[in-house]
Amino acid sequence: MLAHSAPQTLSITRPDDWHLHVRDGAALQTVVPHTAAQFARALIMPNLKPPVTSTAQALAYGERIRAAATVAGYSTFEPLMTLYLTDHLPPDEILRAKDAGIVGVKLYPAGATTNSDAGVTDMRKTYSTLEAMQRANMPLLVHGEVTSPDIDLFDREAVFIDTQLIPLRRHFPALKVVFEHITTREAAQYVQSAQGAIAASITAHHLLYNRNAIFTGGIRPHYYCLPVLKREIHRQALVDAATGGSPRFFLGTDSAPHATQLKEHASGCAGCYTAHAAMELYASAFEAAQALDKLEAFASFHGPDFYDLPRNTGQITLRRESWTPPQSYPFADTSLKPLGGGEVLHWRMA
Ligand code: NCD
Ligand code: ZN
Repeated sequence: MLAHSAPQTLSITRPDDWHLHVRDGAALQTVVPHTAAQFARALIMPNLKPPVTSTAQALAYGERIRAAATVAGYSTFEPLMTLYLTDHLPPDEILRAKDAGIVGVKLYPAGATTNSDAGVTDMRKTYSTLEAMQRANMPLLVHGEVTSPDIDLFDREAVFIDTQLIPLRRHFPALKVVFEHITTREAAQYVQSAQGAIAASITAHHLLYNRNAIFTGGIRPHYYCLPVLKREIHRQALVDAATGGSPRFFLGTDSAPHATQLKEHASGCAGCYTAHAAMELYASAFEAAQALDKLEAFASFHGPDFYDLPRNTGQITLRRESWTPPQSYPFADTSLKPLGGGEVLHWRMA
């Protein structure tokens, strides 16, 4: 392609992040401003320790996030809150949550990922709560991986579709479902073609990288997340889904900060931190697919449309400019290494 034909700036409706981890306490001061600088709203994951399992806890957590945004000068940033589904989340909590503006309930299969020990051990234990969610039009946000050790790590998402998701959706056909951070061709195809109210979030790192990134020149723990990066054919299927214009696919960074020493560890934590340059990373992925014109709908329209929330009215501008994010940020009393820190990016938020 001729360099001079490439756009130098890109202005789009202000986007939202439909899948975000910000942790709590002093960590908020590092990560919330990164997100609030780019996004109007972010859907906050409830996998704290202990998990966010009540409306009251979610509202209080939301206030702490707002406070961290306000201190940094982003007083209009809106955290959208979720509850953590356990074997014991009572159905009547769903109505309280709905009334309080809680946006979804997150399913972590027990043991699937960071802070998921309180997650669901058997879907049947949640049926009365899912019934209440279906009635209240409360979306179920799904970490779609089986956890049994006999299933290969790289197959856990595909197996989840057949053994968990399809039966679940057959049982609750009117339940709105978001298949979070999809990583495989199977998941993209399922979401594209399934009946009923289903959508998927897609991260920037799963659009940019395949599993080689974890092993290039040595083991690279900052590229380790769950669901883990997959083969190139899967990355390509995700790019096709994200850039294909279907309203069922939208932006969710899954930015998941962990202290440097917990990533660079014999048993390193899963999670990639991308909030420092989220839109820049998505812009790179869409540009590589020659689909920058599809970024706005993916980042700013499909999410609110699925969640029945208004689209944002403001704009952001990305400029073609080379810059290098820092290798590390202060993070509570430790440090946080962003994905691709110290490496040149070619887009920058104005
Ligand atoms: C997330 C985290 O660290 O909270 N980690 C990750 O690898 N994505 C949890 C999750 O979304 O699975
Ligand atoms: Zn996540």
